[in-house]
Amino acid sequence: MTDLSQNQAATSDSRPAVLITGANRGIGRAVADELAADHHLILGGRDEQALDELAAQFPSARTFVAELTDYGAVARAVDGLDLQNGLAGVVHSAGILENGTVEGSAPGQWTQSFEINVVAVAELTRLLLPALRAAGGTVVMINSGSGINAVRTRGAYSASKFAMRGLADSLRAEERDNGVRVTSIHPGRVATDMQRELRSYEGGEYQEENYLQPGSVASTVGLALRLPADASIESVSIRPR
Ligand SMILES: NC(=O)c1ccc[n+]([C@@H]2O[C@H](COP(=O)([O-])OP(=O)(O)OC[C@H]3O[C@@H](n4cnc5c(N)ncnc54)[C@H](OP(=O)(O)O)[C@@H]3O)[C@@H](O)[C@H]2O)c1
Repeated sequence: MTDLSQNQAATSDSRPAVLITGANRGIGRAVADELAADHHLILGGRDEQALDELAAQFPSARTFVAELTDYGAVARAVDGLDLQNGLAGVVHSAGILENGTVEGSAPGQWTQSFEINVVAVAELTRLLLPALRAAGGTVVMINSGSGINAVRTRGAYSASKFAMRGLADSLRAEERDNGVRVTSIHPGRVATDMQRELRSYEGGEYQEENYLQPGSVASTVGLALRLPADASIESVSIRPR
């Protein structure tokens, strides 16, 4: 379901529109802050009321409310968007991390990881492609260092992020002649709820100063979206310094 909030009037301005999934917290929320000054934000999430409150904080924003694995709901939400001027970008930040060794992971952890981190990303992108092509838009996928180098105890997560990289590479090859850019961003550890849960699973302390700030990852998203039209950032690895 799409909520056209009081800020929807702002869609008629000339700001390029960007849809951000997982915009309510973590990296997605930081991406919203990063892009707010010069974009019309379409804030993706599952809690309608919380998203409405968030949208009200930005100069130009509306909401996109959907459980991303409910493909009927996602299609209806996309249909409800007014994308006549095209879509300048979609930032896929929603994702999950299933902790566990390969030996210790049940089939459901694998299917859940792949469904949210890969299938839902592919489906939402597919539905948005006409609008992205119309605007010469950019698809940004928040991947992970685990999508480049697999690590122990995160088999399902790493495998899903490797698959997400394959998705980005395939899409980039397919869309090159359609004017759509595809950027894959691979952060190391970032200070968010996901990292808190990972550190708890690892039995280690959560030391925020050792991790990337979400805003630092968001700045690479801003870079990819604001790049002049002749150029494309295909892949970025961003690590804690
Ligand atoms: N944190 C890190 O260290 C780190 C490092 C590398 C890569 N990443 C990647 O960065 C991305 C964002 O991570 P984060 O750290 O910001 O995570 P986070 O704080 O755990 O937030 C996850 C976001 O995804 C949303 N989400 C999860 N499943 C969803 C579903 N089925 N439908 C709709 N929304 C869903 C959550 O919504 P709810 O609030 O409704 O649950 C939330 O907004 C992920 O793809 C992650 O793999 C994170």
